[in-house]
Amino acid sequence: MGKYILNGRNPLEGKIPIYGAKNSAVAILPAVILSDEPCIIENVPQINDVYVILEMLKRMGASVEMMSEHKYRIDATKLSSYNAPKDLSRTMRASYYFLGALLGKYKTASISMPGGCDLGPRPIDQHLKAFEYLGAQWDSEHGSVIVKSNDRLKGDHVFFDTVSVGATINAIIAAVKADGTTVLENVAKEPHIVDVANFLNSMGADVRGAGTDVIKIRGVERLKGSEYSVVPDQIEAGTYLVAAAATGGDVVIENVIPKHLESIVAKLIKAGADIEEFDDYLRVKRYGDIYSTNIRTMPHPGFPTDMQPQFAALLALAKGTSIISEGIWDSRFRYADELRRMGARIQVDGKTAVIEGVEGFHGANVKAPDLRAGAALVIAGLVADGKTEIGDIYHVERGYENIVGKLKDVGANIELVEDEDVEKRA
Ligand code: EPU
Repeated sequence: MGKYILNGRNPLEGKIPIYGAKNSAVAILPAVILSDEPCIIENVPQINDVYVILEMLKRMGASVEMMSEHKYRIDATKLSSYNAPKDLSRTMRASYYFLGALLGKYKTASISMPGGCDLGPRPIDQHLKAFEYLGAQWDSEHGSVIVKSNDRLKGDHVFFDTVSVGATINAIIAAVKADGTTVLENVAKEPHIVDVANFLNSMGADVRGAGTDVIKIRGVERLKGSEYSVVPDQIEAGTYLVAAAATGGDVVIENVIPKHLESIVAKLIKAGADIEEFDDYLRVKRYGDIYSTNIRTMPHPGFPTDMQPQFAALLALAKGTSIISEGIWDSRFRYADELRRMGARIQVDGKTAVIEGVEGFHGANVKAPDLRAGAALVIAGLVADGKTEIGDIYHVERGYENIVGKLKDVGANIELVEDEDVEKRA
């Protein structure tokens, strides 16, 4: 897929538009299967994870029409298969939402065990537990997971053992058409959980309490079509906020919901950024020093794990020492080796990283180990003295729409060079 080549040290200046949230879109698009009519989904991010989900829908017999750049009409009312294509489902974590959607509508589903970023063990036991409470059975063979129910799913009380974004959303999706009421406790509260519930309710579902500790779903027989716009991507917005602050820039981040960015903004202010908040945009500036601060990632409304690597890149340039504790994933510090190549001083011990601030980064050849780690390396490359080449950028392209174009528009010196061009230059 190529590399990003950056020449750093330009402060970013201008405006960056934000589109729909990846982790919301990848749940809403499979959930269209529940509808008994076509749906129109707007503000869909143009990213590889979305293209894979749309391709899966098409291969299962849905009609997918792109109406304009971020708008799709999806008719998934007549599917030819209830098995998500294996070659595609194993490439991305979010393919597990096909289990909830197909089980909820057709009482049967299978996917290949979901992949995604390597962040340590990524079990789906809590998803399967919820399906079992609703009356389904599951089995796994040859790397596939199969869920089935002989009868219509039946509402029940599910208390999750761990707070899981995916299991919460999947249980909601599966329960929407169940017989009776489902109560979910110890649930995740991320903005995309509220977004998926809003989408389902716009089709006629009865989901209450999303965003709080207890979610109640009263099953309905039928769901109508809906025209729905995906919530702005808080992590994409957060990434550009950090990029602007790291480069000492002055950037307006447009089309955001500031409330969703509170924990990120609070830490950026601690780190020395100046942030002004408006109805649907934020302006971030930084002229003075970067200050050290400690971060502990937690489920929403805590500081999001998906912003941890990007903050590490910023704090590596701070005056003083910062400590980052990862509270969600076993292993989310694979960027540390790469940032060290650029001059960062980071020591990792288990789920904790100790970052001693340095004066600056120097350009280097690095590789994106996963999506958000890749974003952290882009931020480091924007600040570094000299040329940085980032390989394995398919990770980044999975989740950031037109990252190169958006950064160029605010003055960054960044190019995506396809593999062939890279070889020609060598
Ligand atoms: N967990 C279990 N059992 C389960 C599910 C999760 O033990 O059945 C554990 C996980 O191992 C982890 C914790 O619970 O330690 C939280 O996992 P969660 O289920 O919340 O994560 P996820 O739904 O698989 C989503 C995002 C991730 C994001 C996490 C946490 C999608 C497609 N992915 O993953 O996003 O880090 O929530 O907020 O929504 C990213 O965008 O870069 C990314 C990795």
